[in-house]
Amino acid sequence: MSYQIRVLGDPVLRQEAVSIENIDGRIVQMATDMVPAMYQAEGIGLAAPQVGIQKRLFVYDIGEGPQTLINPEIIDSDGEWAFEEGCLSVPGMSFEIVRPKQVHLVGRDLEGNEISIEADELLARLFQHELDHLEGVLLVDHLDRDQRKAALSRWREIQSLRDDGEAGAGGLSLP
Ligand code: NI
Repeated sequence: MSYQIRVLGDPVLRQEAVSIENIDGRIVQMATDMVPAMYQAEGIGLAAPQVGIQKRLFVYDIGEGPQTLINPEIIDSDGEWAFEEGCLSVPGMSFEIVRPKQVHLVGRDLEGNEISIEADELLARLFQHELDHLEGVLLVDHLDRDQRKAALSRWREIQSLRDDGEAGAGGLSLP
């Protein structure tokens, strides 16, 4: 099946995901199907809640092929790094956010093997971002009150332009 990526406003993005007890065929299929959805959206990471599934799993690819992490946890972090972060669930917007520069992440792969990764910069950022999704946390939650207010009003503006665009395109069939 092909997955639709849920966007800000969808309540599924705000729920806490549950641990995966059994890495069975359904979990493997789900991860396998999330990868093309991530590529199609030109993302480098995609968490299960973003396709409407409340499970602790995400897929990612930072140029070394697709990987899946199950029940991931960050057990250590260090440093500070400011980075302009985007999110497939908040398309068209990005924010400079400061987070730890390095993290140590543990979890399991699709075969059930224990994984332990010391990540820095982009990969560390990706891990923290995807972990947030598993907790129901989105980019906008990292902004201060004024930034958040401005971001949400811009989001509503983008959404209304998008809705108008779709309505217009329906009858006109533009190239
Ligand atoms: Ni995201």
